Amino acid sequence: MATTRRTISVLMLPWLAHGHIGPFLELAKKLSKRNFHIFLCSSPVNLSSIKIPHEYCSAIELVELHVPSLPGLPPQYHTTRGLPPHLMPKLKMAFDMAGPNLSDIISDRQPNMLIFDYLLPWAPEVARSHGIPAVNFASVAAGASSFVFHSIKRPADEHPFKAIRLQDHWMAKYRNQMEQASENGMSDTERVMRCIDQSSGLIFLKTFRELEGKYIDYLSDLLEKKVVPVGPLVQDPVQEDGDHITEWLDKKERSSTIFVSFGTEYFLTEKEREEIAYGLELSSVNFIWAVKFPVEEDITLEEALPRGFLERVRDRGLVIEGWAPQARILAHQSVGGFVSHCGWSSVMESMKFGVPIIAMPMHLDQPLDARIVEDVGVGLEVMRNESGELERKEIAKVIKAVVVEEGGERVRNKVKEVSIGIRNKGDEEIDEVEDAIVKLCGEATGSV
Ligand SMILES: *[C@@H]1O[C@H](CO)[C@@H](O)[C@H](O)[C@H]1NC(C)=O
Ligand SMILES: *[C@@H]1O[C@H](CO)[C@@H](O)[C@H](O)[C@H]1NC(C)=O
Ligand SMILES: *[C@@H]1O[C@H](CO)[C@@H](O)[C@H](O)[C@H]1NC(C)=O
Repeated sequence: MATTRRTISVLMLPWLAHGHIGPFLELAKKLSKRNFHIFLCSSPVNLSSIKIPHEYCSAIELVELHVPSLPGLPPQYHTTRGLPPHLMPKLKMAFDMAGPNLSDIISDRQPNMLIFDYLLPWAPEVARSHGIPAVNFASVAAGASSFVFHSIKRPADEHPFKAIRLQDHWMAKYRNQMEQASENGMSDTERVMRCIDQSSGLIFLKTFRELEGKYIDYLSDLLEKKVVPVGPLVQDPVQEDGDHITEWLDKKERSSTIFVSFGTEYFLTEKEREEIAYGLELSSVNFIWAVKFPVEEDITLEEALPRGFLERVRDRGLVIEGWAPQARILAHQSVGGFVSHCGWSSVMESMKFGVPIIAMPMHLDQPLDARIVEDVGVGLEVMRNESGELERKEIAKVIKAVVVEEGGERVRNKVKEVSIGIRNKGDEEIDEVEDAIVKLCGEATGSV
């Protein structure tokens, strides 16, 4: 029984991205309340900004994993945050070279198992060389994954779920991305497949049954491994006194304002910035827009936005350069819509806080997540034109539909319902995760 068993120690290795480390940390917190000891392993630059809340300090240890500094990729670039996009293949290659150091960490800390991210096929190999099991944990949607693996494993058949289909322009872009290789020649498709193959009998996925049950089952069937949902894993917003964003929001009416953000990795093109800026103007809805640029780009907000934009929107809009406290903003009662790239963690966050989504996917699995958002009924997607580009009128139309018009009531009600469901959930997924881990580690040592 859980109360009498020994402590199981787990080494966690997320990809070097904010949207990946966050869910690993949340999973670590949940497990640490159940007699698990967690080593969370990442690059020093990334760990330096993580603060482990006091109550978890004894159960969660941060462990630095040194990534080699390749030419043009100094240690401060060992994170995807602000990373110039052309350096991404190099970062993947650099991380691929961290195996020997991971091996040292395993020898030193002696964890019972490894939980690793889906771009890191070398990590389970290291675990195996130490005789410990390794489970793949991906913070992606089961629906998106089922689409991807279906297209790899059953390319001749159509994906069985009609709701998840991509427009032609997305398909082309998507194939390109998956085939794009890192500097050592490994494509993302290959990485993902090797990770799945090497995962010890199970796959953990950041989702939950009420939301994606049918996709979870189909994915288990496709991958021939048990897909175990770990729950929504949304972080609680950190409250800060007297910050100017909250003060600004306090003056707005209930559900009157949208939050506009495209995640920590994607940088808008000049054209996209322009369409979005005019779309926001046309919508007449209040907004907070987090705009960011790669670390090496030297450009001011005034230069980046259409001429006179800031003067015209004045009090109606707040433009923030760089990072914005997303959870705190979404949790504010004045916020009534989230213009989002649909990174899966952002979708979960929006649902938890009951904020309907204006889906504006940009790349990777985001267009698939946007289909799920519409299918579940918690948002509407801004459709792109035939050339795959955003248009200001369409942006304004969808914002108004979701936030103010009567037609959007269905979406606004649905997201409230889903939010209540998430808030009332217990930790039933973690029960299942715990059982799975105990069983796996017992099998590995022969001492169930
Ligand atoms: C590293 O990841 C954490 C957790 O997601 C994040 O809070 C932090 O800002 C990241 N740091 C950098 C430098 O990317
Ligand atoms: C392993 O870590 C050490 C520092 O502990 C570092 O000097 C070395 O370059 C790292 N090796 C690799 C392959 O990254
Ligand atoms: C698509 O929208 C862009 C504006 O972002 C416009 O320049 C282009 O002409 C449009 N293409 C079509 C086929 O309508």
